[in-house]
Amino acid sequence: MSEQKETVGVIGVGWVGLVTAACFADLGHPVIARDILPDKVEALSRGDVAIHEPELEDLVRRNAGRITFTTDMTELLEGARLLFVCVDTPPTYSGDADLSRVRAVVQELPEDSEHVLIMKSTVPAGTGESIRRDKPDLSYVSCPEFLKEGTAVADFMHPDRVVVGADAGDEAAADAVEALYQPLGGQILRTDVASAEMIKLASNAFLATKISFINEIANVCEEVGADVGQVAKGMGLDERIGTAFLRAGIGYGGSCFPKDVSALKMLAGNTGYHFQLLTAVIEVNELQKRRVVGKLEKHLGSLIGKRIALLGLAFKPDTDDMREASSLVLSARLQGEGAEVVAYDPVASDRAADLLGSVEMATSAMEALDAADAAVLVTEWKEFAELDWSAAGERMTRPLVVDGRNFLDPEKLASAGFVYEGIGRTVNTPKPAAAS
Ligand SMILES: NC(=O)c1ccc[n+]([C@@H]2O[C@H](COP(=O)([O-])OP(=O)(O)OC[C@H]3O[C@@H](n4cnc5c(N)ncnc54)[C@H](O)[C@@H]3O)[C@@H](O)[C@H]2O)c1
Repeated sequence: MSEQKETVGVIGVGWVGLVTAACFADLGHPVIARDILPDKVEALSRGDVAIHEPELEDLVRRNAGRITFTTDMTELLEGARLLFVCVDTPPTYSGDADLSRVRAVVQELPEDSEHVLIMKSTVPAGTGESIRRDKPDLSYVSCPEFLKEGTAVADFMHPDRVVVGADAGDEAAADAVEALYQPLGGQILRTDVASAEMIKLASNAFLATKISFINEIANVCEEVGADVGQVAKGMGLDERIGTAFLRAGIGYGGSCFPKDVSALKMLAGNTGYHFQLLTAVIEVNELQKRRVVGKLEKHLGSLIGKRIALLGLAFKPDTDDMREASSLVLSARLQGEGAEVVAYDPVASDRAADLLGSVEMATSAMEALDAADAAVLVTEWKEFAELDWSAAGERMTRPLVVDGRNFLDPEKLASAGFVYEGIGRTVNTPKPAAAS
């Protein structure tokens, strides 16, 4: 008879919590997953996953027999000893992380808890220590999550590393967490709690720094006639640098980088240390989203009354997450310049419609491009690379593309009659069709 695996508790069933619940269930653990939103719990109990994340709905349905979704904290506490906290930690107006949801969870735990609280939510260094002060009998482990939306299930199942942070007295709790992750095969790094918390913030801040760095290089490339794609490739071949996160574009967004970079900057500031580099990373990212406006004006003059089609709205492909998406700033800036903005995203249109106000939503890329003065590629969805650009050019008032992610093939666009401008690349002008 196979050995019964330990029940895993999950608190907060969003992107991270649902992936955690589904993946541990797939590894054979009974899972009790608690959220405060009754509609979400009801939908998940029926196997309906409201977020767009590859493989996730299949995984939830396949493991339905092992996962209990509930709103009831008592059911969770009675059924599971190991509790993964996966609630959201959004930014406050001050730029610090808002820990109110984490605190609400801690307040619900009994004083003499035998449970192990495992923090997956991204929290500032020092959070674990303050929770331990509040609940001295609770075992506490920091286990930050590094999954990426769009490949979240694969990232969880095949981690580069798993960080397990625990302080003196919590070694057994850390061993239990380590045992849960052992079957996944990634390197497990044991640290103290504060270091684990810092690893998460420092990793995201470093990746954001790489993006802002290559974006500044791209901007210089435009001035000196170099191609940032070639520059990044040449840099990346140096194994000390590597190619990852050296893709120039219109800036990072999403639910993690902007808030985590800001939270780290503020965390440093609250201790009296001015983290100058991150101030620049944030500013470069903000300005980068706006550079598209200048590029459009270069070709179109005033944008008043010009119809601009945004292709893609989600902060990156394979997700419908609109949190801090570059499209939000860009569409507002374009409307501020008097442009008429029409937009299309293969999966994020519904979420985006509420946020984009007076932006017209199209139901296909071709519909968005109809009578447009320019197209701006915002999110690198595969279907945009596969679009019939010759047909698109005929529908547009002016065949002009600003490729905000250097995703499209400039030669193909030029052959289709387009003026093509990317980020950190020379402008391509239309090429006469080759004689047959
Ligand atoms: N989304 C990512 O790609 C990602 C990656 C790594 C780390 N993280 C971190 O993981 C955490 C969760 O992020 P997310 O994107 O999954 O958030 P999310 O907003 O998608 O989900 C959070 C969930 O927690 C629920 N919740 C709030 N308070 C609760 C409570 N008291 N009890 C039970 N449920 C509660 C909400 O209803 C929601 O369903 C954040 O700290 C984030 O920074 C996110």
